[in-house]
Amino acid sequence: MSNQMYRQQMLDHYKNPRNEGEMDNPTHTSELENISCGDEIKVYLRVKDDKLSDIKFQGKGCAICLASASMTFEDIKGKTLDYISKLDISNVEKLIGIELSPSRKKCAHLGLLTVQNAINNK
Ligand code: FES
Repeated sequence: MSNQMYRQQMLDHYKNPRNEGEMDNPTHTSELENISCGDEIKVYLRVKDDKLSDIKFQGKGCAICLASASMTFEDIKGKTLDYISKLDISNVEKLIGIELSPSRKKCAHLGLLTVQNAINNK
């Protein structure tokens, strides 16, 4: 994909976040804040047979934060907890396809970190 296409994809996820909302009876939840700006993401997970069977999220953040969360959550739905716990910012960068400055990496990383935190807290 070209840079332009990656940017359009990102804008689309920002405007129409996938899996946005709340969930009744999640098996795991977590809420994390990006301390450098105060933005935050809350996730609701449903884990079944060691796999992430469903995910919903709510968040307040910049375009990179929310678009990255939307793309990451779409990507990890259905994957094993073991697989998800090994992901890092480089996987998020590959998904969004845009090179990020260190402070922007924090924005893009927030969604994944929130899910990993939810998994580790239970
Ligand atoms: Fe707050 Fe990006 S500026 S998450």
